[in-house]
Amino acid sequence: MTFPRDFTWGVATSSYQIEGHAMGGGRGASVWDEFCATPGRVNGGHTGAVSCDHYHHYASDVQLMRDLGLRAYRFSVAWSRVMPTGRRPVNAAGLAFYDRLVDSLLEARIEPWLTLFHWDYPLALYREGGWLHPDSPRWFADYTRVIVDKLSDRVRHWMTLNEPQCFIGLGHQTGIHAPGDKLPLDRTLLAAHHTLLAHGLAVQTIRSRAKLPPVIGWAPTGDVPTPATDCPEDIAAARETFWRVPADNTWNMAWWLDPVMRGRYPEQGLHAYGAAAPAFTDAEMRTIHQPIDFIGLNLYRGYDCRRGADGSPENLTSTPGTPATHNHWNLHPAALRWGPFFTHERYGLPVVITENGMAAHDWVSLDGEVHDPQRTDFLARYLMELRRAVRDGVRVKGYFAWSLLDNFEWSEGYRYRFGLVHVDYATQRRTPKDSAWWYGECARTNGASLPAAAPARSLQPAGRA
Ligand code: FCB
Repeated sequence: MTFPRDFTWGVATSSYQIEGHAMGGGRGASVWDEFCATPGRVNGGHTGAVSCDHYHHYASDVQLMRDLGLRAYRFSVAWSRVMPTGRRPVNAAGLAFYDRLVDSLLEARIEPWLTLFHWDYPLALYREGGWLHPDSPRWFADYTRVIVDKLSDRVRHWMTLNEPQCFIGLGHQTGIHAPGDKLPLDRTLLAAHHTLLAHGLAVQTIRSRAKLPPVIGWAPTGDVPTPATDCPEDIAAARETFWRVPADNTWNMAWWLDPVMRGRYPEQGLHAYGAAAPAFTDAEMRTIHQPIDFIGLNLYRGYDCRRGADGSPENLTSTPGTPATHNHWNLHPAALRWGPFFTHERYGLPVVITENGMAAHDWVSLDGEVHDPQRTDFLARYLMELRRAVRDGVRVKGYFAWSLLDNFEWSEGYRYRFGLVHVDYATQRRTPKDSAWWYGECARTNGASLPAAAPARSLQPAGRA
């Protein structure tokens, strides 16, 4: 058995990372504009002000996707492009941009997968309190309504929030990302609670107003502990670690997914966070707990885990020389087998890999091409593990490679290139990398072009931590 017949093969981007035209077309500032303008926040003082200038190049970018044989495109809408202050009035020019984008995607027979929020929070709303404000879920729901009313006659696939762990953890607790806050844990978890409410209200809004029957999910993220061997004890140790909520940060899956899927915070998490956990009502938990259609997972990294001698899970460290990407993320393809497996096992909902990919040291060669054999190898290895998840019985519905284009990698600026397509930022010239053609072929053949067997050699020999 290989990938299901209706499997979705796509590529992903996000608004602030590619659009540019940051202060044009009536767009209002987001927290990322301000963060980038603050000296010392972003590598090299880079900003998303121009980036890939996708705002002006969207039509040829869509053509490019079509030429590559890609059938689905996950993009995000910039809230402050559509509502410059985060609230009404609506900026017609901003909304019109997404209208045109969706039309050109459909014309090219590419299915739009729309993410409502990928971190570019309206600055004006942030100044009113942002995600800490008790009205923030309603602000988000009203924005959602504007987008749904405009685009749901053509868009069927919706994602509410991208990686809440990141924009809350990095944005509000450690301050590495915009808005750069360093809140104590209880305030961080209050902001987190409001994002969950925002998710729930947005799902209700989509469900009640969408013109085409909607398919709704969201896109949490995490590093995946994977069993060091296939023996049941190690699998159990990895599972336990995957769902564990740590006491002092927001990097975990259960705190985010249990409220959405089960209508309650996980007991172990409530215990771990103790007095820092937010106050909540039953009605709020019911709002968060809306039926959704799939769980998106943004998965990049992982590590091996086994049952230790004292019975508790033990994480294994990778040995020196383990393959890593340009931004020093260890390769760990098994993340794409076990992340979907554990998630599907716990909640029983279909899973979509909403992001996966790597930064490589890419440049245009003398022959005018971009040769990125490492990315091709990365994608093949990860996809083969995803295929194993399918064989294990996990309902995996799709896979989106991060990213279509090289782009603005948040606090790292333009240092890392994640694209299947190389971008020369000085000329805006796009050059599909070798991996882009390879991935297009994989998509066209529904994965049949992948190597048949699992890799002979383990990628990541592990030693005891
Ligand atoms: C994810 C983000 C995405 C991109 C990739 C590399 O955490 O969702 O915007 O930065 O990492």
